[in-house]
Amino acid sequence: MKKSVWSDSVRLPEFDKLSGDKRTDVLIIGGGICGLLTAYFLGQSGIDYILVEGSRIGSGITKNTTAKITSLHGLIYDKLIRKSGREKAQMYLEANQSALCEYERLCKSIDCDFEKKPAYTYSLTDRKEIENEVKAAVSLGFPAEFVENPKLPFQTQGAVRFPNQAQFNPLKFIAEIAKNLNVYENTFIRDITPDAAIADSGKITAKKIIVTTHFPFINKHGGYFLKLYQHRSYVSAYSGCGNLDGMYVDENLKGISLRTYDDLLLIGGGSHRTGKHGGGWEELSSFANKYYPQAKLKYQWATQDCMSLDSVPYIGQYSKRTPNLYTASGFNKWGMTSSMAAAKIFCDMVQGKRNEFEHIFGSRSMAKPQLLANGFEAAANLLTPTARRCPHLGCALKWNKAEHTWDCPCHGSRFEENGKLIDNPATGDANIK
Ligand code: FES
Repeated sequence: MKKSVWSDSVRLPEFDKLSGDKRTDVLIIGGGICGLLTAYFLGQSGIDYILVEGSRIGSGITKNTTAKITSLHGLIYDKLIRKSGREKAQMYLEANQSALCEYERLCKSIDCDFEKKPAYTYSLTDRKEIENEVKAAVSLGFPAEFVENPKLPFQTQGAVRFPNQAQFNPLKFIAEIAKNLNVYENTFIRDITPDAAIADSGKITAKKIIVTTHFPFINKHGGYFLKLYQHRSYVSAYSGCGNLDGMYVDENLKGISLRTYDDLLLIGGGSHRTGKHGGGWEELSSFANKYYPQAKLKYQWATQDCMSLDSVPYIGQYSKRTPNLYTASGFNKWGMTSSMAAAKIFCDMVQGKRNEFEHIFGSRSMAKPQLLANGFEAAANLLTPTARRCPHLGCALKWNKAEHTWDCPCHGSRFEENGKLIDNPATGDANIK
């Protein structure tokens, strides 16, 4: 069984399963880092809340992240300025920088291997786009730099450098954050009504409900199955590679990302839309063999990211018609700062306070071509003839031979070989004959 370096070393606090009916002001569904931070801040503000998790806390994507805490999200600022305007780009930068500061504040008293590091986005092919990103970030007042020759074992066309970013061990962090929270584990929510969530072992009535389940699983509101898709990527951790002066990511979504942890080098990549083919761990081993021939493989794992269609997460009301239902998703591989931003926004929203960043991430309409491209992928897989169909909306499941799972190319649900649910938005097992 493949396991992340974080899962191997951290013991998380355990919580009881829900038994019987409960009542609370705010119910959070989903015990990953986003839900836990939301619960933490609600608790700090004296708000009555309950968090429910279908399995164990941190057992979803949080245990598989590479945990880079940075405002440099690939190449985003030049694009945001061009597509959404300077003000939105500025607020996006500030929201992420303020999330980074909040981690730094919390990590002063949490032993979680928090380290300040510069973040880099490099390009193998296009110097111009790196230069444009540096210009964009500098124009927003951020001290970004162009680095001609980043200290990598391969040739690049340059990199953008953001100083004073950070990395940590995400499970050590949540182990501490979760300690005194009001949580029920192994409590899978089967259905939601406007003021309650129903699990097999009880019902929780709440004035407000926040869904932090990675992919928002309620289909009847918000149309998230149209405006999100999932991306799978792979991580291998090697010893014997020496040090690295920061965290690196290729501007190409399918490229290689690097960070260190202790004496390990974490190499990420091999990615593909869930349910499609990609390089997987084999691509990472070829990379390691070529550039770090002396390296020794220590860990391998995979992760899954929800991708929004305009590169900005969806955080806020679940839909315009559900004033007391909220969600956060579409973090586009940048879940650490996005989760923190979401937790702060939720904490203000449920108290009726205005959050200065809520309008950047809130409900917005998508450009038609983006929706059409995503819809086309779903339609093609809906029409594919097969007996193995996804219980979410019926798309044809694809066999993932690297991980021995059934994966859905439409919205990224995943199932074990025997059909048992692994990743949502599906809420039940698949019938695999
Ligand atoms: Fe939506 Fe499979 S995840 S149809």
